[in-house]
Amino acid sequence: VIITQAVYVASAVEREQYPEVKMPEIVFIGRSNVGKSSLINSLTRVKNLARVSSQPGKTQTINFYALGAKGEGTADRKSFYLVDLPGYGYAKTGKERRKMWSAFIEDYLLHSPQLQFVCQLIDIRHAPMRSDIEMFSWLVRNGIPVLVIATKADKLGKNACAKQVALIRQMLGVAELSVLPYSSVKNEGRSDLLDVIWDTLLQ
Ligand code: GTP
Ligand code: MG
Repeated sequence: VIITQAVYVASAVEREQYPEVKMPEIVFIGRSNVGKSSLINSLTRVKNLARVSSQPGKTQTINFYALGAKGEGTADRKSFYLVDLPGYGYAKTGKERRKMWSAFIEDYLLHSPQLQFVCQLIDIRHAPMRSDIEMFSWLVRNGIPVLVIATKADKLGKNACAKQVALIRQMLGVAELSVLPYSSVKNEGRSDLLDVIWDTLLQ
């Protein structure tokens, strides 16, 4: 799969601000600082498309990026959105604001007919936290397809990565769960993720 185009389209804090043009959506969710925006930059190969920060809580709006892609050796072309969500589990955000945010994001996730699947990002170095487990079961409970991505895979060796993937499966309670290790620094996992997205778009 070749990405032919990647452009920022819109930021939303309310429904009215969602893009008018509807296209299939691939959504990225995860704790603050887990690497959602970095993954979008890695996937598109556009360095500063999504804003990255070492300070958690950087992304505060639902951000839509329009992508064009074409299949290798075929004439197939597809357009879709990558959707970057604000991180959850950010302690510094006040309780009221957190509530407002989770209501808005839940509303988005529950009422997006274009949504194809959610990539839930979990830092490969740590066991899933309570907020990760709660988010995962909320998605499953609501019938939203989830692909778990273990981020920052460059920070661990191969064996340690495999161990952490097993731990993620165990703690999320799904033995057969597919977990994709990803490194935005090395672009590891990129072509696998693009294949998953492509297959979904072709269905
Ligand atoms: P919020 O917008 O605050 O929710 O964070 P985010 O999930 O979008 O994380 P972001 O992409 O801004 O990355 C957070 C930090 O992790 C930055 O310092 C990145 O450089 C770093 N980071 C992200 N992905 C990777 C990765 O694959 N490997 C390494 N080593 N660092 C990464
Ligand atoms: Mg971000």
